[in-house]
Amino acid sequence: MKTNQVWRLGMGDMQILPGARHRPPLKRPIWIIVLVSMVSLFLVCAYIYPPQSSAACYLVSSRGCKALTDWLPPAPAREYTDEELASRIVIREILSAPSVVKHPKVAFMFLTPGSLPFEKLWEKFFQGHEDKFSVYVHASKEKPVHVSRYFVNRDIRSDQVIWGKISMVDAERRLLAYALKDPDNQHFVLLSDSCVPLYKFDYVYNYLMYTNISFVDCFYDPGPHGNGRYTEHMLPEIAKKDFRKGAQWFSMKRQHAVIVMADSLYYSRFRDYCKPGLEGKNCIADEHYLPTFFNLVDPGGISNWSVTHVDWSERKWHPKLYKAEDITYELVRNITSIDLSIHVSSDDKRETMVQPCLWNGITRPCYLFARKFHPHAIDKLLQLFSNYTSI
Ligand SMILES: *[C@@H]1O[C@H](CO)[C@@H](O)[C@H](O)[C@H]1NC(C)=O
Ligand SMILES: *[C@@H]1O[C@H](CO)[C@@H](O)[C@H](O)[C@H]1NC(C)=O
Ligand SMILES: *[C@@H]1O[C@H](CO)[C@@H](O)[C@H](O)[C@H]1NC(C)=O
Ligand SMILES: *[C@@H]1O[C@H](CO)[C@@H](O)[C@H](O)[C@H]1NC(C)=O
Repeated sequence: MKTNQVWRLGMGDMQILPGARHRPPLKRPIWIIVLVSMVSLFLVCAYIYPPQSSAACYLVSSRGCKALTDWLPPAPAREYTDEELASRIVIREILSAPSVVKHPKVAFMFLTPGSLPFEKLWEKFFQGHEDKFSVYVHASKEKPVHVSRYFVNRDIRSDQVIWGKISMVDAERRLLAYALKDPDNQHFVLLSDSCVPLYKFDYVYNYLMYTNISFVDCFYDPGPHGNGRYTEHMLPEIAKKDFRKGAQWFSMKRQHAVIVMADSLYYSRFRDYCKPGLEGKNCIADEHYLPTFFNLVDPGGISNWSVTHVDWSERKWHPKLYKAEDITYELVRNITSIDLSIHVSSDDKRETMVQPCLWNGITRPCYLFARKFHPHAIDKLLQLFSNYTSI
């Protein structure tokens, strides 16, 4: 019989159960048709009414919803607008362009109101590595008095910076623009006047240079200080689900610095719709623009944590400020021994997300720099620097 032969072929070498052979031949196709129709009906229903609760998911499979949604065709993607299309193409071209230079340098970009209290410490850090770094200072309030030769004549044209406003992002972009003028600069680190180095120069240089990712902090915060700050004015380019948060203190590779320069589309959405007080929300542009931008255009290209440590554990408006009496060898060792990046959501659940700090796939200490240090901590830090950087 023909059907039986096809059936046997399909079964391969498997033995057909003896009972099956005695069934009337017509029954099997009907049984299969009924089963296939039921499964199809079920899939159509599941597609039209996707399971909303976990109870519905358990009806489908004990592994939850994922198994079912994986079988379904993906929802149609939104078509890009002209501006978006242009932007995506420019970004893709920049990211795929190789960059090879003979003497790659790290650009250390200081964002400060005025004088830098830790210049002498940075001088110790920089000494002997003159061909591997460059320094840029953006002083937004008053002209700094420099006490280290590495900082003299390194001020760039600056403008006022207002906390929370787009002028903070503008200052970051201005620093990047000046630093990009030097083709040898291959990695760009943003630092504040209260930041200090945690390692010797070579360690920092190798950590930043011998990887192809940028260290940009980025996480999804469903709470009021995260996605609660989103507004639908940012549509269609920026959907709520793509909105991200992160600390402003980034370090990025040259290609990423160039795409930040090239971006006017996403930047303009934050300039216009992310500011303190808009629609009763307190959107802080420098905490959302870069994390959201990279999440949209190159999510795999960033680490999702910042290499600058800060201690928010006191849960106050400002992070912990380390004073002279806090500075010990043990404090520095404690910070440099952290190899997990932790993000906490700002809603009542205070959901904690923990990720190992992976550098080229291996777990490494997360932090190269730390803040915030009180200016009076300088003497203790100078005393300790050669000690804590000897390893
Ligand atoms: C970085 O390099 C690794 C291997 O060298 C590669 O697998 C990965 O795709 C690269 N990532 C980016 C963002 O270029
Ligand atoms: C950062 O997070 C994104 C998703 O949000 C992920 O695609 C990317 O791989 C992460 N980066 C690293 C280095 O793990
Ligand atoms: C260092 O970490 C240990 C263990 O978590 C803690 O007991 C100690 O107080 C920390 N010391 C400083 C100076 O932060
Ligand atoms: C300097 O480092 C050594 C270990 O490398 C340690 O034993 C010593 O206590 C440190 N000195 C100070 C002042 O912390």
